[in-house]
Amino acid sequence: MVQYKSNGGLFGPSKGIEMEIQKLQEIIKWFPPKWLAFMEKYLYRMPSIKAKMEMEYDVILQGAEETLKPYRHEFPTYSQIPDIGLDRTEILQQMVDLKDREESRWKDGYVSGAVYHGDNGFIDFLNQVYSIHSQANPLHTDVWPSSSKFEAEIVAMTARMLGASETTGTICGTVSSGGTESILLAMKTYRDQAREIRGVRHPEMIVPVSAHTAFDKAAQYFGIKMVRIPIDAGFRADIPSVKRSINRNTIVIVGSAPSFPHGAIDPIEELSTLALQRRIGFHTDACLGGFILPWAKKLGYPVPAFDFHLPGVTSMSADTHKYGYAAKGTSVVLYRSVELRRFQYFTASDWPGGLYYSPTLAGSRPGSLSAVCWAAMVSMGEAGYLDATRRILETAATIKKGIARIDDLFLLGDPLWVLAFGSDTINIYQVMDFMQERKWSLNPLQKPVAVHIALTLRHTQAGVAEKFINDLQEAVEHVRAHPQEKGGSAPIYGMAATLPLRGVVREILRRFADLLYKV
Ligand SMILES: Cc1ncc(COP(=O)(O)O)c(C=O)c1O
Repeated sequence: MVQYKSNGGLFGPSKGIEMEIQKLQEIIKWFPPKWLAFMEKYLYRMPSIKAKMEMEYDVILQGAEETLKPYRHEFPTYSQIPDIGLDRTEILQQMVDLKDREESRWKDGYVSGAVYHGDNGFIDFLNQVYSIHSQANPLHTDVWPSSSKFEAEIVAMTARMLGASETTGTICGTVSSGGTESILLAMKTYRDQAREIRGVRHPEMIVPVSAHTAFDKAAQYFGIKMVRIPIDAGFRADIPSVKRSINRNTIVIVGSAPSFPHGAIDPIEELSTLALQRRIGFHTDACLGGFILPWAKKLGYPVPAFDFHLPGVTSMSADTHKYGYAAKGTSVVLYRSVELRRFQYFTASDWPGGLYYSPTLAGSRPGSLSAVCWAAMVSMGEAGYLDATRRILETAATIKKGIARIDDLFLLGDPLWVLAFGSDTINIYQVMDFMQERKWSLNPLQKPVAVHIALTLRHTQAGVAEKFINDLQEAVEHVRAHPQEKGGSAPIYGMAATLPLRGVVREILRRFADLLYKV
């Protein structure tokens, strides 16, 4: 995902890049920040500035291209369908070669998040399930009723795990393609509900700044005004700001359990009570924590209430393809009532192609992934999830202690297993670059500048936590000794985090997206 993330490796070292950035800063430094956003558009229309900007973009993009397209010279490239189909053995060999290049980094536990289980036996089992159901499409319910069975049970099991009981009434939901889709669906649902029931024409959603940017996507896609709320010193949503922001157009309040950047759990109880009092929807985004927190609580960790046990929580997202340990491509969105879920559906009664309905964004979908998700859940079982959670949280405790021992670093907040750390004395992006050279793929954060690692089962392997701490210690010592060292991605991340011209940063991201599809 080419968002402002990169897994630490989006930008390759690019000679002279710092100088280019400094020049850019020179151009804009005499504009008052408030004017910049307004002036940006007009600034780029000036030919001299436009030419200058294009040069800056080229330098930045050149570094990224080297990193994003490493196979150009070693593997055949196809920009059109070959005249005659290739030999299957040859294709399979290429697949294996590519996989072999990429596998060890995540398999050996060097990557933040990304692959959440990854044991060989488990992968083989899921692959077997995939191949058995590889042709299934849940859109064709008559041909593959098994897909509907798998999805109904995935939803029921997830709902039960997240507080559904005889006293909550029917907690229902759907399976989606990932956290982002679950969030998009929930926000569309609230928009349509508020329009139909309350006549809200200019919907607004109240979302802490730390909540995943999928909520911005929902706001853009569905024409909802985004009201971002600050977070407090503990990186949790600021309740008074939420209170102040509620108005008659508010359709939903959002909280994360936990948030992607800092792993902090918002004060869901207070926020959802507020929502209930004001008759507004409340969405807990448990994409990251949905399959960890219930088990952490059972293991005795201090987990505040965050799910359907709270009467004000009206919807949730929980990602089966993260700590549910399914293959990539599934998530669950849950609702407190069947009536609410109906606002999510799409139906068409007059299309010449026939009567049509689809519960989620896609039409045709991979039933194989639902089968894999179901198989992952029932094969893990409660005992498997408890054991996995225990191992991840114990590893997190070791790494937290290690970070606390390193001078120059501090942990952001008091997280359980998504550990963000920053520094007041050294450049943390340089630390990330050093770690990158040691194979580590960490996530750069901004506002405030920091780096995080989301721990998975890969990090619970023997020796990984210790190696992380040792490498981090060395990285800090190195950066402390060489604060002026040039190169790496640090200057670009530094620029992206602080550059007042946010349009420039967005333009760079659009150009990254273009790059992805460059042959
Ligand atoms: C809290 C949270 N919400 C939503 C998402 C989006 O999930 P996905 O990448 O599956 O779309 C993430 C992803 O990391 C997340 O951490």
